This record gives sequence, C-alpha cells and structure tokens, in this order.
Amino acid sequence: MIVSPSILSADFGRLDQDIEMLNRSDAQLIHCDVMDGVFVPNISFGFPVIEAVARKATKELDVHLMIVNPQNYISQVRDCGAAIMNVHQEACVHLHRTVQAIKDAGMKAAVTLNPATPVETLTDIITDLDMVLLMSVNPGFGGQKFIANTVAKTRRLRNLIDRSGSKALIQIDGGINLETGRLVAEAGADSVVAGSAVFKAENPELYISELAKL
Ligand code: DX5
Ligand code: ZN
Repeated sequence: MIVSPSILSADFGRLDQDIEMLNRSDAQLIHCDVMDGVFVPNISFGFPVIEAVARKATKELDVHLMIVNPQNYISQVRDCGAAIMNVHQEACVHLHRTVQAIKDAGMKAAVTLNPATPVETLTDIITDLDMVLLMSVNPGFGGQKFIANTVAKTRRLRNLIDRSGSKALIQIDGGINLETGRLVAEAGADSVVAGSAVFKAENPELYISELAKL
C-alpha cells in the first residue's frame, strides 16, 4: 500500500519536524491539501508552504488541489516541487486538456472524484491518467467519517482500470485508518491518504508502517 500522509493534520508550528518524521517513515508520498474557500468551504495553505515542504521532504509530493480553475496554476505547482498534480473532475470543464497540460509540464496527472461523482465519468480519459483519487468524505476538512459506499466504488474503478489496460493507481482520501484502509485495500486500492489517523496516533511512524502493510 502506498501511504500518502496528509500534512493538513500536521503541526504547522513545527512542520519541519513532522516532515523529518515522514522522511524516516514508510510513507512513499506526502499529500498536500490546497483549499481555496470557493471549491470547498475551507482555506488551507498554498504555494509558499508546499515549497517549504518540498525543500525538506525526501518523498514525492502529491498535491491535491481543491480549488476552482486549477488549470491556471500548473506551472506554479510544478515549480514548487510537486511530482503529482491532482485536480478535481468537478473543477475542470476541459479535463482532457488540463490532464495533458499537467503531463506536458513534467508531472504525473491525477484526477479526484467527489463522493457523488460516478467513476464512469472517467471512462474516456482513464488511459491518460497516472492516478485516480476517490474522495471517501466530502472534501474540505480533515477528521471526517469514511463514507461506506467508497468500498463498492473502489471495486467499480478497479474494474474500469483493469478492463481499459490503464496503469492508473487508485488512491482513497478521507476517514482512512487501519480499519477503513483494510476495506479499500481489499477492494483494490493502491494508495491511501491519511491525515488525522496518522498525526493523532501515539506513534505516527509506526501507524504509517501499519498502513503500508495493508
Ligand atoms: C479532505 C482532504 C484530506 C484530509 C484527510 O478534504 O482532502 O486529504 O486531509 O484527512 P483525514 O485522514 O483526517 O480524513
Ligand atoms: Zn486530500
């Protein structure tokens, strides 16, 4: 299991120490949640913070943009050190163009679906994607409860990817802990994002290694 801890739940007053912990851990990615207060009802952080994380991190940055018009920020996301640029399907009118532009900029392209958006909306673009993220909560906040329908949705996405020959990874984000992580692993997920479960754990490094074994 590819674990991508979300720094949304990190301690921003000592972010350097939290990044050092992630560097030592079994996490393969570091998940950065950007919120604009328009696409989602919350504001998190932007490019200066991601740049600071990139300077310290030895893991690839997985940047999840919960913003309108993400196509306007592709070169800025690349320049601040992202390996994966992740845009919401619901925020992109011309999703195919945006995905190509992300790849042309030298990043991996990922698309996120909100809980109410069916996986079939990606049928005609699935072979162009490096990763699909299924939101297992409504985006905007850490610490919410996992939406159980995500397990069946993960299975449908697994089928769609396997039938198409796409190499896209499946990532699940929201309410992930060892219990819900096991459910999505069994349904075919390749990667989990975890914020509060990791950073509220008594031993975050150990918790990450347990998630990685799922
Ligand atoms: C939610 C974000 C998530 C969030 C997950 O809008 O996209 O990445 O940080 O937090 P937990 O793991 O606490 O649900
Ligand atoms: Zn996220």
